[in-house]
Amino acid sequence: MKSVRPKAIVGAGPSAELAKLRTRLAEAEDTLRAIRSGEVDVVVVTAEKKLQMFTLEGAEHAYRMLIESMNEGALTLTAGKTILYANQCFARMVKLPLEQVTGSSFNRFLCAADQATLRPLMKKSAACGSKMQVMLKAGDGSLLPVQISVREVARSGSGRVTIGMVVTDLTEARRTEELLRALTQRVVQVQEDERGRLASELHDNITQQLCGVLFSSQALANKLSARDEPAKQEAVKLRDMLGKTAEAVEQISRNLRPSELEHLGLDAALRATGRAFAARTGVAFKLAFSPLTGRLPAEIELALYRIAQDALNNVEKHARARHVTVALAIPESVVEFSISDDGVGFNLRRQTAGGRGRSGLDLLGMQERATYVGGLLTIRSAPRSGTKIEVRIPLLPGVSAG
Ligand SMILES: Nc1ncnc2c1ncn2[C@@H]1O[C@H](COP(=O)(O)OP(=O)(O)OP(=O)(O)O)[C@@H](O)[C@H]1O
Ligand SMILES: [Mg+2]
Repeated sequence: MKSVRPKAIVGAGPSAELAKLRTRLAEAEDTLRAIRSGEVDVVVVTAEKKLQMFTLEGAEHAYRMLIESMNEGALTLTAGKTILYANQCFARMVKLPLEQVTGSSFNRFLCAADQATLRPLMKKSAACGSKMQVMLKAGDGSLLPVQISVREVARSGSGRVTIGMVVTDLTEARRTEELLRALTQRVVQVQEDERGRLASELHDNITQQLCGVLFSSQALANKLSARDEPAKQEAVKLRDMLGKTAEAVEQISRNLRPSELEHLGLDAALRATGRAFAARTGVAFKLAFSPLTGRLPAEIELALYRIAQDALNNVEKHARARHVTVALAIPESVVEFSISDDGVGFNLRRQTAGGRGRSGLDLLGMQERATYVGGLLTIRSAPRSGTKIEVRIPLLPGVSAG
């Protein structure tokens, strides 16, 4: 094997050469010690037919800096939820010094219900990461809405598990949600006001005037003598057309602001809507209301009425159904309302935001109406299996109509 003398050493005195070799040996020993103890990572690069070792000194330090500079709480826990490590951000979230956080149980920051929900989540985290939203109880008793994501990060040879957890403060997200909800409520309110204004204009101006012309055409038909039969028939035809137009305008006005709903309640208003729907579409309409002892709050009645209107529009436009049923029951202070049809149904996933289908205004509007009164709307549908729109609205204590 041919050996080459390093150029830098050529010409130097033996003591300088020895000092350089000693320094290099010390460096090599240091690096080896660090690699053995896991303090540093090492990258081996092949360059110019030689192996070169690059040590990432302070890698541990860099990870720690990353975790500490995160805007999220980061923790590692045992499977029994003892906190092994927490970053400063988490300590700030729970308003405690870090020393009081490390070594304690994560349960102390949760209420009993959230502790019970977290238990299965921690188990599930072994297979895949999982998330949940909880209220974090800080050291001073204040509550913070957070999302926690957990994932198994290590498992020792003896099966001991270490869980990694990231805690995200949801205060800002909740505020944005509330703003959006307030905006939606405002839109719904403005829409209702506008519908009311239009209904009054139609009723007070157009319908009244149409009725005036209708009476005049009737009077004209009466005046025309039997000798002028063709003209008389024209006048009668004109009267009938005007009658139908006045009725149609009045129906539009009623749909815009259903006076039956205000005066007679949801049951009567939906019965009238159902009759008109069945007459117009030929679809059999059934109202299945369990007996109510009183009226529901006005805003809930209006929301349910509008949801039924929108759902019936969709049945007429898309379902090709033979039967439609509108049902209402109030078991244990929860209003359960549904509109179901036996039509063609549709692929739900394609109609949602991420799907390829075009999502129209009715499905969105119905969701908003339900949310507006504190309820939840679920759509159940599948091709050839009909469609069911379900709404559940919890009633406030003291309110009862069932
Ligand atoms: N009862 C139903 N039966 C079958 N398909 C339905 C039914 N309800 C909704 N759909 C499907 O869901 C889609 C979205 O409904 P949505 O009411 O939101 O919009 P749209 O009726 O198409 O338009 P818009 O309501 O804005 O006039 C419809 O295009 C239709 O494909
Ligand atoms: Mg529609």
